[in-house]
Amino acid sequence: MIISLLVSASAITAQPKEQTDTVAEKTNRKVQAKSFTPGTIWPDNNGVHINAHGGGILIHKNKYYWFGEHKVAGTIGNTAQVGVHCYSSKDLYNWKDEGIALAVSNDENSDITKGCVLERPKVVYNKKTKKFVMWFHLELKGKGYSAARAGVATANDVNGPYTFVKSYRPNAGKLPFYPDGTLETDKIDCAKPANKSDEYFCRDMPGGQMARDMTVFVDEDGEAYHVFSSEENNTLQIAQLTDDYTGHTGKLVRVYIGNQTEAPAIFKKDGLYYMIGSGCTGWAPNAARWFTATFMWGPWTFHGNPCQGPNANLTYGGQSTYVLPVLGKKNAFIFIADKWAPKNAIDGRYLWLPIQFKNDDIQIEWKDNWDLSVFK
Ligand code: GAL
Repeated sequence: MIISLLVSASAITAQPKEQTDTVAEKTNRKVQAKSFTPGTIWPDNNGVHINAHGGGILIHKNKYYWFGEHKVAGTIGNTAQVGVHCYSSKDLYNWKDEGIALAVSNDENSDITKGCVLERPKVVYNKKTKKFVMWFHLELKGKGYSAARAGVATANDVNGPYTFVKSYRPNAGKLPFYPDGTLETDKIDCAKPANKSDEYFCRDMPGGQMARDMTVFVDEDGEAYHVFSSEENNTLQIAQLTDDYTGHTGKLVRVYIGNQTEAPAIFKKDGLYYMIGSGCTGWAPNAARWFTATFMWGPWTFHGNPCQGPNANLTYGGQSTYVLPVLGKKNAFIFIADKWAPKNAIDGRYLWLPIQFKNDDIQIEWKDNWDLSVFK
């Protein structure tokens, strides 16, 4: 972040204690960032590097709320020792620590007991119930990545506290939805699975589909969709959430079957749905990929890598997590990625880059330093 210290030197010469404290407070308040510097330490209002990895941002009452995984130092930081951290901002450069929105549990029997894996939290607001709903990828403590569950928590206030509701594998017993005109030969046949992904889908039908890397997208009509990596990470599934956003209706489609898309992020511009995701190489970066669709239920068209220039084939060292529409600006969207630090998880960095449009095509370029004036 570019820091500008607005307090003059004379203001911090010797003064009675009370006054010095006031100056110190003011100094703090006046240290303002005015641009994004992707990949660098990003101090919050207390001067501490923002701790909200694999995050997503909710816009509520003209304010941004950033929710992400709170990581601790070392490799243990790849497991959830604390919970989901929340920050708020009005300008996107300066973030206020709002504390832990969802805390892991001290009860060993809780699905979200301390030491579980709780990743990629995304919060949406349900206008009907007036509740904030947080979805996340959950792995049960001590079970590696085998549980592959979706977890959900709700709150009455945006910054929490969120109360854990349940975790499960979605859409047990459900076959995919196919838009009218889909050829019979393109539909899954569990009597004769055509490939590995179909086999996993059919295997998991009785207990529900695996759900790992994920996002939630709320459409203009209030419909909410849970998008997650499924079928042993082979295929993304897009599934409809219930009216209150805390469950699945059973309607789902499969996207880019067998091509291992992770880290999905969805946005909508001029009636077209865009999705950016990554490949599947654990914490190591790979090339991003993007898709478009006229309907959430597809068909989704694959367009390759949106990133350009040096290191574009590795998403500049990052992995997508969210695409944020900027308040008050037309067609202004920010691509948000994590630069993971799996050996010292707390040191993960954030890559925020503007999305450029050429008609319906998108492009992302690296920038060392930029601000919102790039958006016309
Ligand atoms: C990545 C995934 C992360 C995390 C990691 C664990 O592929 O995007 O969210 O699950 O694997 O290795």
